[in-house]
Amino acid sequence: MTSQWRLRIDTALERTLPPANEAPQRLHAAMRHAVLLGGKRMRPLLVYATGAAFGAETALLDAPALAVELIHAYSLVHDDLPAMDDDALRRGQPTVHVAFDEATAILAGDALQSLAFATLAQAPGGAEARIAMLQELALAAGSRGMCGGQALDIDATGAAQRLHVDELERLHALKTGALLRASVRLGAIAADIDAAARTSLDRFADALGLAFQVRDDLLDVEGDSATLGKTAGKDAAQDKATFPALIGVAASRARLESLRAEMHDALAPFGDRAAVLAELGRQAIERNR
Ligand code: IPE
Ligand code: IPE
Ligand code: MG
Ligand code: MG
Ligand code: MG
Repeated sequence: MTSQWRLRIDTALERTLPPANEAPQRLHAAMRHAVLLGGKRMRPLLVYATGAAFGAETALLDAPALAVELIHAYSLVHDDLPAMDDDALRRGQPTVHVAFDEATAILAGDALQSLAFATLAQAPGGAEARIAMLQELALAAGSRGMCGGQALDIDATGAAQRLHVDELERLHALKTGALLRASVRLGAIAADIDAAARTSLDRFADALGLAFQVRDDLLDVEGDSATLGKTAGKDAAQDKATFPALIGVAASRARLESLRAEMHDALAPFGDRAAVLAELGRQAIERNR
């Protein structure tokens, strides 16, 4: 199932991005570099898996899946900029500002964000669901979501030890959790599920979002750059606010196990229909890249 969806989203992304020979070529080439050269596609997979679990037609899920991946790709381009994490490697490739230049990377991120909302605005299905999806993604991407988390991350950089673990969880819930939760919610909106199911799915998504970033923090310590496709060991070098930095590797692993249990409990009411979501939750915890 997930490999089918991965093919589907890759094809749709390829079609949605402007061709590299369309002017301004450099900007379009940079956008395509940011999106098409790898990536696990976790957020689109969550949209498809949630929608499918609750009976949404796949055709209703493509636009939200595209939109959330475009926002994610933009967030990575900007995250890697010299003014932020200053990274040279992403998805096994030179980062956009290295392969192109800084101004082009800023504009490519901006244009990817814009393309995300243009794509979602054209989603098939009812207007009410479309507007709910637009609002969901806009909130998750903004200052009360991903951008807000990135601001907290930048504030904490260089003073990581001064953060309380609750503050770190909040930071992670925003910078990474918000878009992952939005992915689940977009699928839920497309499937028009009831409020009780939404509450359980939010609980699952919040645990997955935190687990995803705790794992990311651990991989920066324990992984290697070739497998990760990004530079390992950078968080400690930059005194980033991470779980291993604040509570240590062993306690970070223990936190992941508690989040595994939380995800399991949250999905329990759904039984077998949530099998693919449970598998994506497992991947968030066990992934090696
Ligand atoms: C990396 O996200 C940034 C975080 C939010 C941890 P992913 O690990 O999903 O990156 P790709 O999309 O697979 O490259
Ligand atoms: C990424 O956090 C968060 C966003 C891109 C919003 P990181 O800075 O830890 O992500 P990586 O490790 O560079 O992928
Ligand atoms: Mg960062
Ligand atoms: Mg980074
Ligand atoms: Mg990281």
